[in-house]
Amino acid sequence: MEKLSILNNRIKTLGEERFNKRVVLGNGNENADIVLVGEAPGAEEEKQGLPFVGMAGGILKDLTDRLELKGLYITNTVKIRPTKPSPKTGKPVNRPPNREELDFFIPFLFEEIELISPKVVVTLGNTPLRAFMQNNKAVIGDCHGRGLPFGINGKKFTLYPMYHPASVIYNRSLEAVFIKDGENLLNERING
Ligand code: URA
Repeated sequence: MEKLSILNNRIKTLGEERFNKRVVLGNGNENADIVLVGEAPGAEEEKQGLPFVGMAGGILKDLTDRLELKGLYITNTVKIRPTKPSPKTGKPVNRPPNREELDFFIPFLFEEIELISPKVVVTLGNTPLRAFMQNNKAVIGDCHGRGLPFGINGKKFTLYPMYHPASVIYNRSLEAVFIKDGENLLNERING
């Protein structure tokens, strides 16, 4: 992780100090032409210290295997696991990232993307989409499967919104859309 090592050390040190939780950094090819950005790590990701290694990660891997996409980089908008106590058991359960977590981690995400400088950034679900669009009302249902021109500090890339793989678990009818959007991503990579 040559190119990203200084940034990653900062994210880890500052993130753990601020939230007192394990920071799960991005993983994969730091020279990737496609970067996938999720919402935040879940329990399995926190345990293993790697993004998308739980159930949603399995669905994502099925898609990338099917499309024969290799050499990817995978990261999250928020790099700690957002939790709340379960009303039933009191044990920590996942919740969406809050404003404090988003405001802390989004500038690091932008630095990460700038350093990798990929052709395409695939946002998975609403959280990373809203982070890039800087619009909390943006919804994935309105813009999935189409590339949008985007830039960070003069570095240009294509933003490609997709549904979150976990949404396919909850809503099986999204599976075909998720696969179709994935197939169209191959064109964006060539043209992007
Ligand atoms: N969901 C995400 O958004 N990110 C992960 O790393 C795992 C599940």
